[in-house]
Amino acid sequence: MCGIFGAIANENVSELLLKGIKRLEYRGYDSVGMAVYNNGSINIKKGAGEIDSINKKLNFLELEGSCGMAHTRWSTHGKPTDKNSHPHLSQNKEIVIVHNGILDNFLKLKNDLIKKGYNFLSETDSEVIAHYFEDKLKNNLSIKEAIKDFIKDAEGTFAVLLMHKFEKKIYAIKRDSPLVLGLSDNRFLLASDVYAFSDLTSKAIFFDNDEFAEVSESGYTFFDRLGKEKNKTIKEFEWEQDESNIDKFEHYMIKEIMEEPLVAKRLLVSLENEQKDNFDKLVSMIKKSRKVLFIAAGTSYHASLLGAYYLHKCGVESQTLVASEFQHFATVDKDTLVIPITQSGETMDVIEALKYCIDKKAKVFSIVNVPYSSIQRMSDASINILAGQEVCVAATKSFINQAVLLLRVAKEFSYKVNLDNISDEIRGVLDKAEIIKKLAEEIHNKPDLYILGRGLSYPVAREIALKIKEISYIHAEGMMGGELKHGTLALIEEGVPVISLISNKDYDMVSNTKEVESRGAKTIIVSNELSGDFKIETENDGKFGILATTFGQLLTYYIALNKRLPIDKPRNLAKSVTVK
Ligand code: F6R
Repeated sequence: MCGIFGAIANENVSELLLKGIKRLEYRGYDSVGMAVYNNGSINIKKGAGEIDSINKKLNFLELEGSCGMAHTRWSTHGKPTDKNSHPHLSQNKEIVIVHNGILDNFLKLKNDLIKKGYNFLSETDSEVIAHYFEDKLKNNLSIKEAIKDFIKDAEGTFAVLLMHKFEKKIYAIKRDSPLVLGLSDNRFLLASDVYAFSDLTSKAIFFDNDEFAEVSESGYTFFDRLGKEKNKTIKEFEWEQDESNIDKFEHYMIKEIMEEPLVAKRLLVSLENEQKDNFDKLVSMIKKSRKVLFIAAGTSYHASLLGAYYLHKCGVESQTLVASEFQHFATVDKDTLVIPITQSGETMDVIEALKYCIDKKAKVFSIVNVPYSSIQRMSDASINILAGQEVCVAATKSFINQAVLLLRVAKEFSYKVNLDNISDEIRGVLDKAEIIKKLAEEIHNKPDLYILGRGLSYPVAREIALKIKEISYIHAEGMMGGELKHGTLALIEEGVPVISLISNKDYDMVSNTKEVESRGAKTIIVSNELSGDFKIETENDGKFGILATTFGQLLTYYIALNKRLPIDKPRNLAKSVTVK
């Protein structure tokens, strides 16, 4: 994962870099570092920990110069330590790099370099890149020639920014990991995504794979893998800039949950207006396909399970597979419509599965939140869920809009649902936060939690369990109610909390609830038609799936608040998962 940010301007860039990297912190927060070029010298500060605390210790703003780069890390190779933090220097201290991605063949490259006498200070795969370039330059290659070799020799994924001590320039190289150049008045900005600089400009150029650019004060040039100059199109992108502001909320998570009524409405309005053509296209592509196959990971996978349920109920053959296992279980051909669902549009597991589908000649229609993301650009067509920036690592409002979109699609295939009042119904759940707070108080100290669902409420049970695990640090299982008696029931004993999601009058779910109650479980019944602990105010089963998720998100938030956990930045995680 990791976030990278580079800037060349006619002003001191350290403040720009700090702000940019802070906006990318959701991509990883194990360590942070900055390198600034200043008249033939490169100065670096870096350390393990979150940006604010490391900045307090090191004061990045002391770095002076008008060309520089910064990095925020999610550890893959090597623990989160000062030494493993980026930027990494070459041995002769003339070249500095930051890297996002994984070099699959780093051990081979590293061993070759060790044989040539290079010493490594870190355990990272990335440090190889700095030494690799030093070695190439020692052999009288220019940086551009060395980059061509690097693209040939490197296996794996990379977005790399590189500076040389004797040039006020940044070289940027990309394969699979995201990279974009932002154009803002007298500044050139290089970043992992447009959000990093969306407060400064709405003009950007997106890198394609195995492409590189040379960026200086006076301009930029793009090259293909063979070093041939390329013309690139400048894209004007739109991104709601206000939404990242935390306003009056204590955490982004609660802010983003509270935005759900608004963003659901915004999406539905757009499907009748500016996104109507895309929406009609999605419906027509489903009609023309033999089957629909969703690909997604994590929370987006749970939304896709809901989508597969909704479409299946309307007689559309549809399935979903977790992206990382896709190639082992999927049968795809030219008559399959593949629908990747992804908030970030950058999830590497989804990208890999998608490449496999494209190879098999399947049609691809993606559902994304981040515009111009890699997955959107790989697709035949795409629609935006318009949830706006999600800063909290846990996906909340993006899940709601993914599900709302899928339900709206199902409606076109005769799923009976009125979506006109969905925003009010979500608000109805939010208005009952006090009840949810009390439930959270009752269970926040429990070590285990089970959530049961059937059919449409099964994906919701999985999604609530995921939220509880990642944000509340409680072991949680989201289960099919029917599967309980096949093993897991053995774990139910006096006082174990079990949340039962009962949509309409699902009597099988009622039986499963009784089964755990008779073994001493403390059940929390969430239902729209039956009496219980939390009432979801809707007549419709499709919408129950969405509203019960909002209930689960709030429950998660209040449990984590009780436990004083780092809600927006849970340990070991990052928002955009750009590694396999
Ligand atoms: C959980 C969460 C993750 C993501 C998953 C896929 O709260 O956010 O499970 O859903 O990493 O990410 P996207 O949707 O960006 O492909």
